[in-house]
Amino acid sequence: MQNLFSTYKIKNLELKNRVVMPPMCQYSVEKKDGIANDWHYMHYVSRAVGGAGFIIVEMTDVEPDGRITDYDLGLWSDEQVPALAKIVEAVHSHGAKIGIQIAHAGRKAEDAPEPVAPSAIPFDENSKTPRALTTEEVKGMVEKFRLAVRRAVQAGFDAIEIHGAHGYLIHQFHSPLTNKRDDEYGQDLTKFGREVIEAAKAEMPADMPLIMRISAREYVEGGYGIEESIEFSKAYKDAGADVFDVSSGGEGQIAAWGRPGTHAAYQVPLARQIKEALKVPVMAVGRLDDPILANAVIGNEEADLVQVGRGMLRNPYWTLEAAKQLRKENIVPKQYEAGF
Ligand SMILES: Cc1cc2nc3c(=O)[nH]c(=O)nc-3n(C[C@H](O)[C@H](O)[C@H](O)COP(=O)(O)O)c2cc1C
Repeated sequence: MQNLFSTYKIKNLELKNRVVMPPMCQYSVEKKDGIANDWHYMHYVSRAVGGAGFIIVEMTDVEPDGRITDYDLGLWSDEQVPALAKIVEAVHSHGAKIGIQIAHAGRKAEDAPEPVAPSAIPFDENSKTPRALTTEEVKGMVEKFRLAVRRAVQAGFDAIEIHGAHGYLIHQFHSPLTNKRDDEYGQDLTKFGREVIEAAKAEMPADMPLIMRISAREYVEGGYGIEESIEFSKAYKDAGADVFDVSSGGEGQIAAWGRPGTHAAYQVPLARQIKEALKVPVMAVGRLDDPILANAVIGNEEADLVQVGRGMLRNPYWTLEAAKQLRKENIVPKQYEAGF
């Protein structure tokens, strides 16, 4: 039977355990140039020292106006590659693997003078009304994703995650609430996301996995549910997604969410349903920072990998403590043994 500390392999990605640090924006690029700095280096390398098997670098954007804020990471320029390569190298030297989330915020780009989106529908009454991308611009956006993925591969990442969740650009394209286009990208709601996946795969070595993060259901009135997300995920799987990272929501204001409450493991049923319907590996996320619970999600085969976000912000050594609590072999670095 598998557990949280079983190894995991998909394609060429070999993990020493099933614990993943999910992408979490740090809003820490003070120079606003999209280049990772000392904060990012310390932040990611600490979690590698802390025992996580796999780390996913925060939302990293394909163009300046694709950032949520001007303090976000970017990969629209070759100048942004070396600082990320340095993080990759250090994380590897501490025994973890590392991926990166490639994204565009679309209408949720807060600092963009004129955000872009599939259709000119603002996120809420306090947000700028985005400009609808022309058909040619949508095709150009696919190329921006392609170039960002090319740079991520150059930086040495072990896997690429495409951000198709939380109400950002790809989510905006496949949601009927935000895509009211009448061109080919509106007639076929998954066309943009599929083309991004195909472009990414064309830049990735054949044995490198592509992870697709999705919001498996929306919470606003009239939003899509798990049945629809199974359908669009099938299209993304056929386009080349190897693993699904199953989250939810983000398309509307939290106050408007008909959300049942973020209790422990609240998104695991969604991950399990995607796993069962598509026969794909899935990553679960959302309040899984009780090690016994995280272990059970793996043992019960509800997900293949478990992510611990806020739990790792509180404690970079979450994995070391979980190993101790679950009585697995000692994985504590020798320098820290006296503390355990
Ligand atoms: C500070 C912070 C930043 C986040 N940034 C991102 C992000 O860049 N990309 C993303 O897909 N999710 C992001 N998330 C969501 C997390 O990846 C994760 O799905 C969420 O925190 C739930 O997991 P948890 O309960 O273990 O924290 C962020 C969450 C937090 C707390």
